[in-house]
Amino acid sequence: LEKAKRPSVIWLSFQECTGCTESLTRSHAPTLEDLILDVISLDYHHTLQAAAGDAAEHAREEAMAANPGEYLVIVDGSIPGPKANPGFSTVAGHSNYAMLMETVENAAAVIAVGSCATFGGLPAANPNPTGAMSVMDLVKNKPVINVSGCPPIPMVITGVIAHYLTFGRLPELDAYNRPMAFYGQSIHDRCYRRPFYDRGLFAKTFDDEGARLGWCLYELGCKGPTTYNACATMRWNDGTSWPVEAGHPCLGCSEPKFWDAGGFYNAV
Ligand code: SF4
Ligand code: SF4
Ligand code: F3S
Repeated sequence: LEKAKRPSVIWLSFQECTGCTESLTRSHAPTLEDLILDVISLDYHHTLQAAAGDAAEHAREEAMAANPGEYLVIVDGSIPGPKANPGFSTVAGHSNYAMLMETVENAAAVIAVGSCATFGGLPAANPNPTGAMSVMDLVKNKPVINVSGCPPIPMVITGVIAHYLTFGRLPELDAYNRPMAFYGQSIHDRCYRRPFYDRGLFAKTFDDEGARLGWCLYELGCKGPTTYNACATMRWNDGTSWPVEAGHPCLGCSEPKFWDAGGFYNAV
């Protein structure tokens, strides 16, 4: 088993901020080391691979040629669509759109990581100057699993990858192609401040008595009731805390168009 071939993974980074990869490196179960040394063969990843330049691009081409129909493509970042100027975002002389379509052609499946890849994210926010599109806007002939969030929770990223490669099938997905195991319930439904919401006890400002007493942040703009993610139970930084516990409303970062949806300090 130790010598068993690890599944090939090609990770493409397009219009992104590296926050999703930063998040991936914080996973503790499985750790990134466990994932890339024991579970997968990470054959291409701009930030994590040792190779550069031509050697890096050859690694991608070799992985595609050696594993037709079997390799997994992971994408972070949005893609200037086919009608956009191809020069808006390029890697090794290829437009993001051309590289995505070439790489997914013989892939087994695609996992879009982060709200840029799943829904367009920050680059697609109004006025979307690069014509940014999501992976599922463009890839229609392969299964696409969406792992949304800006960034997603580390263990959700590694958990979805490990699940797919272990069981060889898609997890149960919601209407936005997100795994139900992590996105099946709203932040609001699992929030420890919910008893205050139910009793009508709301903080009105970030430093009033209600805020100090840990009351509900709904009137400060919390998007928890319409946001589906696992932050309230899995939390961040090895289970240390999460935005609402730190005193900040949920911005709705795992939902479509969250940058334009009024999550940033627009009280309801
Ligand atoms: Fe960065 Fe957020 Fe986009 Fe990830 S989803 S690449 S963290 S802006
Ligand atoms: Fe719901 Fe947000 Fe209030 Fe928590 S803080 S109960 S998620 S509205
Ligand atoms: Fe994002 Fe809300 Fe969680 S802003 S990190 S989904 S609490």
